[in-house]
Amino acid sequence: MFDDERPVFNRLRLTNFLSYRDAVLELDDFVALVGPNASGKSNAVAAIKLLCDIPTHGLPTAINRRGGFDQLRHRSQGHPYDPAVRIEFTIGDTSLQSFYELKLRAVEGKRYAVKSESGAVLTASQSFRFEHEGGVVRTSEVFSPNQPALEQTLRVPQGQSALNGVASFAAIRINQLLGGIQTVEINTAKVSELQDPSSTDTFEPDGSNTASVFEALSAERREELFDELRAIVPGMDRVEVRRFADKVTLAFYQSVGTRTRREFFAKQMSDGTLRAFAVVVALLQPRKPALVVIEEPEIAIHIGALRTLVDILNQHAEETQILITTHSADIVDSLDIDSLRVVWTEKGSSSISAVADHTIQTVRDGLISSGDLLRANALDPALRLF
Ligand SMILES: Nc1ncnc2c1ncn2[C@@H]1O[C@H](COP(=O)(O)OP(=O)(O)O)[C@@H](O)[C@H]1O
Ligand SMILES: [Mg+2]
Repeated sequence: MFDDERPVFNRLRLTNFLSYRDAVLELDDFVALVGPNASGKSNAVAAIKLLCDIPTHGLPTAINRRGGFDQLRHRSQGHPYDPAVRIEFTIGDTSLQSFYELKLRAVEGKRYAVKSESGAVLTASQSFRFEHEGGVVRTSEVFSPNQPALEQTLRVPQGQSALNGVASFAAIRINQLLGGIQTVEINTAKVSELQDPSSTDTFEPDGSNTASVFEALSAERREELFDELRAIVPGMDRVEVRRFADKVTLAFYQSVGTRTRREFFAKQMSDGTLRAFAVVVALLQPRKPALVVIEEPEIAIHIGALRTLVDILNQHAEETQILITTHSADIVDSLDIDSLRVVWTEKGSSSISAVADHTIQTVRDGLISSGDLLRANALDPALRLF
């Protein structure tokens, strides 16, 4: 039905969204958001979470999960504005810019309405578009070159997104693409406790179905996972799923010397191991995500293992785009300086930009490392809007 080439997410535009007045995050194979506390890193991730919650949970829940509409509206000098989020991507032909954009507005104080919503999915041979305003969706669909566009008018209930339940090819495809974004916020307590077997093999962001997703992996993917895990946790042989009554948990097998093999349940494993394991399961899950977003992967992982984890992320970045937030100079040092996006606030609004050219040059000349610059709070952004 659809051209099934891999989508590449190019950029995220945030307008009047949380701490952002108007900012653009340029995405790539691997991008790391760096910046002081409360600069807006998690707020940019929140926009992505909002987008990926729409397909599965619908717009009202996606907004409620971020604390409700009123919380999302950017406030500076006390005045709240109408928020908008736009994500741009290409499928196959990189000169054809596809996008999805959502604009909200306030009605009766704290409630919201969809101000407008639009999307385009453009490939070399097909073009699908929709525009939604005031509950009316207009679609335009070209299925093969030289064919006329098929147009329809559809309706969406108040407060809902056209991505849910509307028979528009653009909406269905965008729905799929946003569903291919995986956010990862591992809660190690949830990885280590006995888990309910999951009916889906899609990784839950908190890691609460890690055992079931692991169980759904092919033998080949499991081998790949063990190889990567061994690099992080030396001596780790393999992992199995164990059942206790109606619950499941992970059992880790570690070699001690040449003969003895010891079994540890998830509950006995260190937070760092569980976190690294869950991240790798998320990367290797049966339906590989197009984009994986991980906040502060450095938490609970010791420095040697951290470098390995970044290497692993880097290897996956060829197939799966990676976006992380980080405060770790070690991570920053193991990434190309072009991968960094500096986040900062001025006059109550956040901005995002690549590192300034002169700073990149200083790092390339080997005069200082980007990690040292991060420690010294001296990673200058390329553009200052104010
Ligand atoms: N609606 C809003 N309007 C303006 N600023 C906001 C809004 N919501 C949150 N903020 C600001 O965003 C900051 C937190 O940003 P966050 O992305 O969590 O930071 P970090 O970079 O540490 O992840 C807080 O200082 C808060 O004041
Ligand atoms: Mg944060």
